[in-house]
Amino acid sequence: MYDNFIKLEEIDSENKLEELWINSIKPYVFDRDESFIATQEKHESNARTYARKFPISIRKGLGIYVEDTKGKIFMDCLAGAGTLALGHNHPLVIEALRDCLDNQNVLMALDISTPVKDRFINTLLENLPKEFADNCKLQFCSPSGADAVEAAIKLCKIATGRSGVFSFTGGYHGMTHGALSLTASKAEKLLVSNLMKDVTFLPYPYNYRCPFGIGGDACDDVSLHYIENILKDSHSGINLPAAFILEVVQGEGGVIVSSDKWIKGIREITQRYNIPLIIDEVQTGVGRTGTMFAFEASGIIPDIIVISKAIGGSLPLSLIAYDKKFDKWTAGAHAGTFRGNQLAMNAGIAVLDHIRDNNILDNVKKQGEYFINELNILKQKYSCIGEVRGKGLMIGIEIVDPLSSKDNLGIFQTNYELSKKIQISCLENGLIVELGGRNDSVIRLLPPLTITNKQAKNIIGILNNVIKEYY
Ligand SMILES: Cc1ncc(COP(=O)(O)O)c(C=O)c1O
Repeated sequence: MYDNFIKLEEIDSENKLEELWINSIKPYVFDRDESFIATQEKHESNARTYARKFPISIRKGLGIYVEDTKGKIFMDCLAGAGTLALGHNHPLVIEALRDCLDNQNVLMALDISTPVKDRFINTLLENLPKEFADNCKLQFCSPSGADAVEAAIKLCKIATGRSGVFSFTGGYHGMTHGALSLTASKAEKLLVSNLMKDVTFLPYPYNYRCPFGIGGDACDDVSLHYIENILKDSHSGINLPAAFILEVVQGEGGVIVSSDKWIKGIREITQRYNIPLIIDEVQTGVGRTGTMFAFEASGIIPDIIVISKAIGGSLPLSLIAYDKKFDKWTAGAHAGTFRGNQLAMNAGIAVLDHIRDNNILDNVKKQGEYFINELNILKQKYSCIGEVRGKGLMIGIEIVDPLSSKDNLGIFQTNYELSKKIQISCLENGLIVELGGRNDSVIRLLPPLTITNKQAKNIIGILNNVIKEYY
């Protein structure tokens, strides 16, 4: 079946893959009848997501590249929804996995102590700000980000005795019942009755489409003023919550970057009113935005952080780290079978060590700036690009309809039809990108943190070629 395919196993470097990739760029005709896609479509649930958007069957991966079962090579800027900090099958991750397997390590240990877990804990703590690490406790969770969000909320409710949670417009915290209650996107919530009731959505400073209709830095100030007013006004109708939960850079919400000033302001307000601040680092954590954790750049110390995705070095792992003063729950208050994935912990150690020992965060900042500069040049050329934004290697391109009416800030309406076309054309031209944000009109890039400048240039080249077809 695979007779005529490129043999990825014979390719030992990303350089060779680059040559092959360049040779393989030509419009690609997708064939939904291809056997794997057809059988999986037949058996899998209606709720499946990425499989609908990407009608390919992925066979192998190395670094930023993946190869489908027909031998077509793609640059993968989805990277397991941000899970693959070092790209696919990084040699150090593979070595860490082999190391576990060759030494007859237990593969799963519930939350029983193991030497691997000990090393993981020490490595994680070394990579957190000392002020936080010296004072924190960890709770390993069932391995999804959403389960760690559930744990954080339960912890805050138990520790404060309060019931409400403040979340933010545009926020994404997962799809379990509680996490979905805190998630802003209405479509997914519409059909599920009786979600957690006591959730208040506060306006996140999405300056481009400012919720207050003013835009710019003033949006931050008004947001902070409004939030504090809710807490201090005896007639606001909303009681003190058990927690605030937010992302420093909203990912699924459309790569919306909050300012350091706003994050500091939220920290000050939550401290003034004694409200635990949960920072959801599921997507931003492990170097994605140019610091090991996104909150570090704002110079604050949160009460709780939620960590998952890249922390397991490609494998499922999640946990919360929190100020020990909140450790008021009792044995079993948050449990779950799969909290002891030793392969994920060993792979996670390899990822954290590699990022630190090889100045990968410098590469994240450098390539991130390169992307933003180059994309802003495209923005000058193509009127369908409304805004380019991002931090580190979490990048968004908001696609608008330049023929639509403008809002009172002079901003065109979102353009889902076009962002979808761009996504499909990118795929046809060998580039995997995700959509997010309001009406899925933001093209999202989440490449591996190890991306080279040559690879970044190739991505810009494809985006330019694709977008110019439309504008
Ligand atoms: C910020 C954030 N929180 C929570 C989650 C949920 O994680 P999971 O999909 O592993 O449940 C995600 C997933 O994309 C996320 O981006």
